[in-house]
Amino acid sequence: MEKFIVANWKMNKGSLEDLPFLESVAQINVGPTVTAIIAPPYTLLQAAQKALESTPFHLGAQDCSTQGNGAHTGDVSAYMLKMCGCTSVIVGHSERRQNHNETSEIVRKKAEISGENGLIPIICVGETAEEYQAKKTFDIIDQQIEFSSPRKDFPFLIAYEPVWAIGTGKVPSLEEINHVHETIKKSFKNPKKVLYGGSVNPENAKEILSLPSVDGLLIGGASLEAEKLKNIIDAASCL
Ligand code: PGA
Repeated sequence: MEKFIVANWKMNKGSLEDLPFLESVAQINVGPTVTAIIAPPYTLLQAAQKALESTPFHLGAQDCSTQGNGAHTGDVSAYMLKMCGCTSVIVGHSERRQNHNETSEIVRKKAEISGENGLIPIICVGETAEEYQAKKTFDIIDQQIEFSSPRKDFPFLIAYEPVWAIGTGKVPSLEEINHVHETIKKSFKNPKKVLYGGSVNPENAKEILSLPSVDGLLIGGASLEAEKLKNIIDAASCL
């Protein structure tokens, strides 16, 4: 079964000192049914492109500008990412939504401009701890999907990342993950791939990936250790 494994390095491993780590990642075997994507910080994209070019790994970015080019200090455009060798870009990660006040409308613009530039956006959605406790998970996700999805007919992936599960070691039950993923899939007319993210590690990866509604994983912390990333990719390759 085809599975996506996306390594989101966040603001880690972004300098040339991290090239040995990148090289150890490049050695990992990736099974033919797995699409493995490494999303390093912008500052390592060009080096990562070189290190990964003759491997099965794809290159992704962690964010992009809503704008095409011009006077947008500090922004990086989807076109630039494409030119660095990226094939996908994470948009609407909860750390962007929370720390940079990104609304779903902004996320949608990023997803659309990524699609226009031939990148596959990985659109993140997920409820906070308060929303989870108030049993608002489905309402929140429904809204985020409605307003964050591109209006045009571009391919894109959805990543369900409960905010309370990111970096906390807490993970929803398999039933909860399955229920949310099935509901997300039903909200689209065409079949849609949905990845899970939030405290994935080598111990829980296999059981989460075995859920038929889970098309892959978005991994933060565990992707910063080559051995852990390898074990997760192995688990995906065996399915
Ligand atoms: P985590 O992060 O695996 O460290 O919980 C996941 C993410 O934020 O994408």
